[in-house]
Amino acid sequence: QKLDLELAAIEKGGYDHFMIKEINEQPHTIEDCLRGRLDAQSGRITMAGVENNIEQLKNAQRIVMIACGTSWHAGLVAEYIFEELCRIPVEVEYASEFRYRNPVINKGDVIIAISQSGETADTIVAIDKAKEQGAFIFGVVNVVGSSIARLSHAGAYTHAGPEIGVASTKAFTAQLAVLTMVALKIAIEKGTITHERYMQLLNELHAVPEKVKTLLERADEVKAIGLKYKDASDFLYLGRGYNFPVALEGALKLKEISYIHAEGYPAAEMKHGPIALVDEKLPVVFVATKDAYYEKVVSNIQEIKARKGQVIAVVTENDEVIPSMSNDMMYVPEADEIVAPMLSVIPLQLLSYYIGVAKGFDVDKPRNLAKSVTVE
Ligand code: G6P
Repeated sequence: QKLDLELAAIEKGGYDHFMIKEINEQPHTIEDCLRGRLDAQSGRITMAGVENNIEQLKNAQRIVMIACGTSWHAGLVAEYIFEELCRIPVEVEYASEFRYRNPVINKGDVIIAISQSGETADTIVAIDKAKEQGAFIFGVVNVVGSSIARLSHAGAYTHAGPEIGVASTKAFTAQLAVLTMVALKIAIEKGTITHERYMQLLNELHAVPEKVKTLLERADEVKAIGLKYKDASDFLYLGRGYNFPVALEGALKLKEISYIHAEGYPAAEMKHGPIALVDEKLPVVFVATKDAYYEKVVSNIQEIKARKGQVIAVVTENDEVIPSMSNDMMYVPEADEIVAPMLSVIPLQLLSYYIGVAKGFDVDKPRNLAKSVTVE
């Protein structure tokens, strides 16, 4: 017993919990994921799984992302990225729904299966089913040699290292890094983006690890916000575009770790329901970094303020407008909207961590949850 405890302490590398260790590892895990693949100077992305199947991928009539939980949220971000860069229609499916439907799969469809563990039962069965119907399966998996890695026709590992905390953190940002590289490779082969934009995005990706590092240095600011709002009974998370799935992921993290009811919504859709919940007690987290949707988000924030909601905003460092309208801010470095989710999710991971710890919960092993759901 004592030995076990000592071993666990060593594995945590000086951190109190695996979750915070893994959040802090992200500059390195994203770097590991890019290493040997992305060469921003020469403009090359090396990914054998994509290169060897480039015809299949670039000619796909449709891409279906299949996943569960946090990996499903990575699929949602990827939907925006693939449609924008590759001009291929994308659907994102919960594996558990896909497997029990009678899904329409056409020849030439590509399934991208996203899974940290590579062992999620619903995702495995969904892949089997799509394979039977002739789909091409591309796996984005963290655990090397896992079932989903073996079941896929091709794939790319996320190389985030073992993830021990039950609620996924570093696997998510690594999934986004891999999916972005896959999209960029298809897009340049297909000719759906200009060389200039391609080179710009390679440089943006290359800069992500360093930006994650600087934003983690502001963790204490997020902690203070966590302590201020830890007793709220509900949270609303809102975002648009690339940041909409980040809002969903922020809400999921809070539920998982702090047992606070949280809902993620597309910011404009709040008018169709969640706005009824807004009063002076409700914290509303806006993922509001500078992107094409910025002005729209500003007006959504005004709508929440007009109803006395407490606005906590994830904002770009040089922003002066949203901070003047918000109660609290979590700052992230400036970045292109395509890579922004890898940054904007991190303060939300930290927020749920600090609230969970402040409430005295076991953040590494939240009640009722499993790291890998191997039964349906
Ligand atoms: C569980 C975990 C989540 C994870 C999900 C999907 O619910 O607690 O953190 O996102 O399974 O797991 P996978 O291994 O397929 O990514």
